[in-house]
Amino acid sequence: MDITATPEWTALTAHHAAVGERHLRSLFADEPGRAEAMTAEGADLVLDYSKHRITAETLPLLVALAEAAGLGEKITDMFSGRHINTSEDRAVLHTALRLPENDAAAALVVDGQDVVADVHEVLARMGEFTDRVRSGAWTGATGERIRTVVNIGIGGSDLGPVMAYEALKDYSDRGIECRFVSNIDPTDLSEAVRDLDPATTLFIVSSKTFTTLETLTNARNARSWLVEGLGDEGAVAKHFVAVSTNAEKVTEFGIDRATMFGFWDWVGGRYSVDSAIGLSLMIAVGKEGFGEFLAGMHAIDEHFRTTPFARNLPVISGLLNVWYANFFGVETHAVLPYSQYLHRLPAYLQQLTMESNGKSVRGDGTPVTTVTGEIFWGEPGTNGQHAFYQLLHQGTRLVPADFIGFAEPNHDLPGEGGADCQDLFMSNLFAQTAALAFGKTAEEIAAEGTPADVVPHKVMPGNRPTSTILARKLTPSVLGQLIAFYEHQTFVEGVIWGIDSFDQWGVELGKVMAKQFGPALYEKDADLSALDPSTAALIRRYRAWRGR
Ligand code: F6P
Repeated sequence: MDITATPEWTALTAHHAAVGERHLRSLFADEPGRAEAMTAEGADLVLDYSKHRITAETLPLLVALAEAAGLGEKITDMFSGRHINTSEDRAVLHTALRLPENDAAAALVVDGQDVVADVHEVLARMGEFTDRVRSGAWTGATGERIRTVVNIGIGGSDLGPVMAYEALKDYSDRGIECRFVSNIDPTDLSEAVRDLDPATTLFIVSSKTFTTLETLTNARNARSWLVEGLGDEGAVAKHFVAVSTNAEKVTEFGIDRATMFGFWDWVGGRYSVDSAIGLSLMIAVGKEGFGEFLAGMHAIDEHFRTTPFARNLPVISGLLNVWYANFFGVETHAVLPYSQYLHRLPAYLQQLTMESNGKSVRGDGTPVTTVTGEIFWGEPGTNGQHAFYQLLHQGTRLVPADFIGFAEPNHDLPGEGGADCQDLFMSNLFAQTAALAFGKTAEEIAAEGTPADVVPHKVMPGNRPTSTILARKLTPSVLGQLIAFYEHQTFVEGVIWGIDSFDQWGVELGKVMAKQFGPALYEKDADLSALDPSTAALIRRYRAWRGR
């Protein structure tokens, strides 16, 4: 179906023309109960969406659009394992990774596979391995316990684990450090291992396909570093484990199946942090902490699956993103966590949202009829305030933003006056969302005695939309809830746009061409004539600088 040809889309277009320019100052003045009415809760998350450029009619119109797009059936299809990833003919079952064990209501058999049993079999093996590493029962080749875990992976096999490890550092065993190597830039591995002792280092090679050039190259170089350091080829078995769906390739690499942790083709890379890809995270926070993380994700899965759309956090949020992208023509979306621990969340969300929804054709291969995808970016507050918030407040572009904050800090320090540091930190979050929404008028600025020629520079236009997402404290469960919230939000958007949010063909051509270009960079007398003139000239310069 062409969503833009539906009466629901037409109604939203008319509604946007009528209310799109209304200012949040007047919206709040006209609706005294707006803040309460536009606050929704799910599991431990609270979403205040009242500071959006919407009236009481907007959400019902957006919900009608979601119904026209068949969102309810699509949610059922996803959770039940129908092959909604049509271009790869695969089920999309990351939600099954967090289904509880021994719960008849959660039983799931898909394509003849008892999914819950398989998931928990791997979790049990991960848990056992984790216990051994954490207790020191698992030793390296020289009998020493593991002190550093290095995850080698890229994209979904890196961003989820590193983001979650950083987020949950306060819950981690500080006697074991996790490091993450992703880039094929030789600097990445070199810097990660430069001060490490191979005798106390464990590498986790994480790759769904086990064919990714970056990961395999880094893994081979890590193996050489280890063997050279320990002087023993046989040491590899005690210092390398693998996480993959491809047992054959793992064996080919030289890692035993006994130390391989599997997952399945129905787990997309960017949806895989809760699969065995999260092994480094489990080692850091323990199997109990990892279990809490999974339970948090499951709580939001249930909220998403069962809550009416008008009170459903990922649905509301996804629909608001559609409202801005398609009716306001907004291009980007800022994610501003007020938690230093969440400093990798924007990078993680970039892959989740942009690899999922950066598509130009619909599920049936026909071109989309409207803009899709959003450009996600961000930094933790308050750092961002001293960098790019100027553009958010006074620039000419509209940038909707998510502000994420917590009441209880993981650490606290004295602040100023009667406030502690956390109060000062969170007062910034509340101040920013209020300033973005309501701004400051020329009259207010002039009344402060500001010279007339400076007044225009100080005017804060306001009417800049934000969501505020609050939770009591950043815990493993709450992190899981946030991730599931964004996963489902991304899905909602994809359903409205009619695209396959679970493939990623757009990254393939670059990978193939990088392989093809390789010899042109290092082979003697390489023939560059088949290349375009710009690329050929650049490679010639590169070769000259490298003395080739
Ligand atoms: O960049 C494309 C991609 O396929 C991502 O979707 C994926 O997360 C990443 O590469 C890594 O893939 P793999 O886990 O198979 O090494």
